[in-house]
Formats: sequence, C-alpha cells, structure tokens
Amino acid sequence: MALRVGFVGWRGMVGSVLRERMLAEGDFAYLDPVFFSTSAVGGAPPDVGPTAGSPNSTAGSPGPLRDAHDVAAFADCDVVVTCQGGDWTEAMWPRLRAAGFAGHFIDAASPLRLNPEAMIVLDPVNGRAMQAAKARGMRDWIGGNCTVSLMILGIAGLLDADDVEWVSSMTYQAASGAGAAQMTELVAQMGFVAGQRPTDPAADALAVERAVTASLSHPELPTAALGWPLAANILPYVDRAVADGQSREEAKGHLEAARILGPERAPTVDGTCVRVGALRCHAQGLTVKLRRPLALAEVEARLAGAHPWVRLVPNTREDTLAGLTPAAVSGALTIAVGRVRPMRMGPEFLNVFTVGDQLLWGAAEPLRRTLSWLVTGTPPLGWEGN
Ligand code: HSE
Repeated sequence: MALRVGFVGWRGMVGSVLRERMLAEGDFAYLDPVFFSTSAVGGAPPDVGPTAGSPNSTAGSPGPLRDAHDVAAFADCDVVVTCQGGDWTEAMWPRLRAAGFAGHFIDAASPLRLNPEAMIVLDPVNGRAMQAAKARGMRDWIGGNCTVSLMILGIAGLLDADDVEWVSSMTYQAASGAGAAQMTELVAQMGFVAGQRPTDPAADALAVERAVTASLSHPELPTAALGWPLAANILPYVDRAVADGQSREEAKGHLEAARILGPERAPTVDGTCVRVGALRCHAQGLTVKLRRPLALAEVEARLAGAHPWVRLVPNTREDTLAGLTPAAVSGALTIAVGRVRPMRMGPEFLNVFTVGDQLLWGAAEPLRRTLSWLVTGTPPLGWEGN
C-alpha cells in the first residue's frame, strides 16, 4: 500500500519548487498525496498527475484541501512534508506528536534543526548518518539553511577527509532567501531605479549615477518587503542579530555545519552574510584553512569528485564569468565551484568561490530526496556512499 504523504505549504516558493521537482522525477506516482491549506480548506488540490493512491482514496485524486491547523486531519498520514514556515512548525509539530502522529516529518523550516531528536538532511554528505539515524528510530528530517547546505556541497570533497580546520565564508545571498515578496520587490526596485535615470541618451555616467543614488532614498522606491534598497546596493546583514556581533544567518553557518557533518568532520565556520541583487542563487567566497598543505591538483580532483552535482570551473577569466555566476546556475541542480587557488597567506590557505541555486539544493532538493528514500526505501543516486 502506498504511503499517504501530507503536504503543507506547497504553494509558496520552496513548496512550488519541491512540487516541480517531484513532478519532474515522477515522485508522485509512488505515493498517496494529500494537500493541506491554512487558508483555502476544501479547495481543489494541485494537479500532480497520476499517484499511487491507497484504499482510502481514489488513485490519482488527492482529494480536497485539508485544514493545516486541524491535528485530526493528519491522522491518516504516514509522512508530513512542510514548506509552510517556522511559525506553522512551532505551532503544529508539538501538537501532532502529542496527538500520536508517529510518522516521518520532513520540514524546510529552521525551528527543529538544532533539536537533538531531529536531523538536518543533506544526503550527498550525510546520507550514511541519515540511514543510521533511521535505524535508531529518527522521524524528524529537517532541511538545512540554504547558505550552509550550498557551502558544504561546494567543498564536500575537502570536508570528507577531515582536512579543513576552518572556513571563512563571505556570502552573496539572493533575494529569494528573504522571500517571494522580497524577490519581486527587488525587480520592482530595479525598474524604479532605471526609470529615474536621465532621459537624455547622452547623459554621462556621473549624471546617471547621481540620479540612481538619489532614487535609492526616493520616497516612492518600493521597500515594504526588503526594508531597504537592494537594487544598485548590497545589504551586509541577513536576518536578525544574535550574540557576539553575529547575524543569525552567520551563526547558522557554524551550528548547522556541525550538525550536518558531525564533530569529526565539521570545520569552524564564520564570516559575513550579505544580501545582493541576485534572484535565486547564493554565492560564497570562501577562505579555507587546511590542516595540512594539499597539492592544487588533489584539491581540484577531490572537489570535482565529491558528488554528481559539483561542477569544477577552471580558474580562468572566461570559464569563471561563463560558469561561476548566478546567471549560469539559476534553475539548475549544479553546484559550481571555482576560483580554486592557494593563497598568499600560506600553503594551507585556499581560495574558493561557489554558487548554487538557493531554492533547489539550498531548500527543496534535500527534502525531495529524503522523502523519496523514506517512501521507497532506496537511497537515490548520489547518496553518500552510493
Ligand atoms: N536564510 C536564508 C537567506 C535563506 O536569508 O538567504 C534560507 O536558508
């Protein structure tokens, strides 16, 4: 009998990308999906093509939308997958467990990530630990912070052998990480700013710059979602303040890397997280401190061979600008890694730059693969050790 999987938050950005990926991989065909809503209970579910159905439902029809706030509506679910966000998780996860929901809970949001009873999923690097955890009875599988997951996937070949002492990560984070409204507002800001430039085609660059800079403090520049101008600007503070002068996004780098890699492999991670005007790809400039010098050829071979999604970009200007950018990687599962070279600080210091799609490997893909593994019992291609 196919497992019944309840999807919460399937309409938002991460949920939509998850659904697209599941459709592309034919994942709905082996499960019995039902869909939940916080606002449109009783409405029509999304079209997900043929499903496996179950004796309790008509195969191919997930039935009307159920109430995402009604614990009883989850009673027949074997698995819950949520991209609804942290508030829903905080409100509903304890209630579901208290009501006896004993199935797998797969969540994109952050509240459970550091819970000792939960596991952050990033199977190309911690698939073996996921299998061991499942054997011990683990039921809460949480997607990691996008920046952390993308960094780890980028340098997985080095982390595997416990050769990295620390990583300084200076990020270039896309608007999608802040949310859908922030993404569309960024593009609206770009349009507003462009509309403020001088109409005279012969206007010189300084006249254009003065008009653009003035537009960034114009009262009509849309900033309701982002809070600040991001077009023609960068914002070197992501999320709220935590301790020691760090932002929460910066703190997650170390905390979540430790959870994903375990104490044996995890390096110390710190750096500055910066929002930039890209739409859905996070990039990171990394300084990697090795525990011992490694030959560049070995570093490149290990980076390139870590898992099927890494694409090592040769450290030339042409290759870098063609392949190591958000423009090159957007919408793809590729984790581009390049600018790999030893640094002047010494033979143990490596310069690395990496770019990945924040909504795919940064959010939806680890959840999709975890679901596929839990439902079919078979780790998908590229799982650690496969
Ligand atoms: N917190 C990330 C960001 C996205 O703001 O870009 C989700 O991990």
